[in-house]
Amino acid sequence: MTSIVRNQWYVAAYGREIGRDLFSRTICGESILFWRTEDGAVTAMSDRCVHRRFPLSQAPSHLVGDTVVCGYHGFTYGSDGKCVAVPGQTRVPRTARLRSYPIVEQDSFVWVFIGDPTLAESTRIPRAPWLDLDGWTAVSGMEPLAARASLLVDNLLDLSHETYLHGGYIGTPEVAETPITTEVDEDAGVVYVSRRMADAACPPFYAKSTGITGRITRWQDIEYTPPCLYKLHSRIAPAGVLPNEDGTDPDAFHVEVVYAITPETEHSTHDFWAVARDFALDDQGVSDFLAENNRTVVLQDVAALDVLERVIATEPDGYQELSINIDTGGLAARRMLTNLAAGVTTDSVSR
Ligand code: FES
Ligand SMILES: [Fe+2]
Repeated sequence: MTSIVRNQWYVAAYGREIGRDLFSRTICGESILFWRTEDGAVTAMSDRCVHRRFPLSQAPSHLVGDTVVCGYHGFTYGSDGKCVAVPGQTRVPRTARLRSYPIVEQDSFVWVFIGDPTLAESTRIPRAPWLDLDGWTAVSGMEPLAARASLLVDNLLDLSHETYLHGGYIGTPEVAETPITTEVDEDAGVVYVSRRMADAACPPFYAKSTGITGRITRWQDIEYTPPCLYKLHSRIAPAGVLPNEDGTDPDAFHVEVVYAITPETEHSTHDFWAVARDFALDDQGVSDFLAENNRTVVLQDVAALDVLERVIATEPDGYQELSINIDTGGLAARRMLTNLAAGVTTDSVSR
């Protein structure tokens, strides 16, 4: 059975990646062509010509105004994927149409709907407003992962691995030592995992970017909306400093770490990552530092998960994992993903 959840929105790209050049990316096993029309709207359609399947992203295929011309024999398609011209005859076959995909551009991402397009409108798209909001500065990137998406979900829902896999970057002993609380909102389809450290060492990653020198109160509140969007609300303040009763929090530093987990195939994943902050907004040095460090951390995860994928590919059936308290969030996420893949809606789960 496929592990890819269909009838869902996935992040296909950052908006900045798509312009007037033909851009192709495989999402959930489907090869998709993206480009912007002359008025700036993103379009998405199958990257296989209906004639002899030449990829439309491949030169000499090219755009002419708001049409794309296949580089093999010249079939020409409009922005809705419908073929408007074929060579050697005036009649265009009625079935000459590329599959087109619903698209929403939001929060700096281009979201694509994979599955039955009639379900797109009624299916939620989770938000990550900080990536594109006044008062915040974001850095972002994408790393290819040669591992299935569920391994990245496991990884992100258990941050105790920070202490080991990312020691010296974002990991300190308190992360692995502090117990977590896990909550599952079945109706909303969200998994929450919180780890709140009252008195922790300030990892170099944050000491350098916030200027805090002493010990810190450190909160890590995860919010995962299966299948694609993961948010880590991170709060750092000098030890003992808590938010005000009215919710304002002027003495703390907030970092929103966002991952979009998009399957490329059953066994590979697009690992989109972004880090938004509400301090040192115009400081390019802090941006460079956060971008470089987060990319390093992501690549440490990528290296470990690529190994796991190879291990799983060669192991005999029936290997039994052992789970402990730190895995509660990951197990809840797996359960939701399995239900979504089986077509069980959150509604029918809660009844
Ligand atoms: S393969 Fe595209 S026109 Fe022939
Ligand atoms: Fe990690």
